[in-house]
Amino acid sequence: MSNSLLLKTSELRTGYGSKPVLQGVNFQVKQGEILAVIGRNGVGKSTLMKSLIGLLPTGTGDIHFAGKSIAHLPSFKRARLGIGYVPQGRDVFPRMSVEENLKVGESLSNKVATSKYDEIYSYFPILAERRKQAAGTLSGGQQQQLAIGRVLIASPSLILLDEPSEGIQPSIVKDIARLMVKLNQSQGLTVVFVEQNLEMIQSMAQRCYVMDKGQFTEELDPSELHDPKVVKRCLSI
Ligand SMILES: Nc1ncnc2c1ncn2[C@@H]1O[C@H](COP(=O)(O)OP(=O)(O)O)[C@@H](O)[C@H]1O
Ligand SMILES: [Mg+2]
Repeated sequence: MSNSLLLKTSELRTGYGSKPVLQGVNFQVKQGEILAVIGRNGVGKSTLMKSLIGLLPTGTGDIHFAGKSIAHLPSFKRARLGIGYVPQGRDVFPRMSVEENLKVGESLSNKVATSKYDEIYSYFPILAERRKQAAGTLSGGQQQQLAIGRVLIASPSLILLDEPSEGIQPSIVKDIARLMVKLNQSQGLTVVFVEQNLEMIQSMAQRCYVMDKGQFTEELDPSELHDPKVVKRCLSI
């Protein structure tokens, strides 16, 4: 892990209309880290992810990525700078084929070599088998793999994953966790993920930030989640 800072927020505040949600979020992610954002339901974790990728306008405060402020850039520009975002509930295009969904991800990048598709299909062999099939006919886990593949096609340096394990069979959860760790180690991919699944947090995260009421209230080492009292305080399970 290098020591350079990749992502930083300072006193970030935003919400929906007049409803404030993020109440001054401060956090820093180093290049090559895997960081988990945890916290009970409704505390603002998805709001933070949407705010980082630019689906919600920045109220006040700042977001720095790779040394420059991105707080007022539109989402597609943040994506072009190297931020990939996989939303909660995945959101693949159900009537489009697997291959067409991956092509949508390509539009966020400059030019993607054909070999990039082969690389994605090697991570998710089931997608290769089903490449002509409509995405809506895939299982939840396969759709999650497709949503992740669609983001990886553009070779991001940071990937934001919002509850990737939600509603997915355990074997696919394990595969996704393993792949993220592998890409982190082999390509230096930085990962920020929101999760409630203890096993996934413990198999991926190097650090955990705990969110409550729109702010980070503590930082944990994943090993501290062996304590049921800590789990009860920090997760909705
Ligand atoms: N589109 C929206 N419009 C209005 N309020 C919203 C919207 N999305 C989320 N909220 C509210 O913002 C708060 C934080 O939600 P969210 O970030 O989704 O929480 P988490 O991901 O931690 O469960 C909640 O009170 C939720 O009801
Ligand atoms: Mg959420």
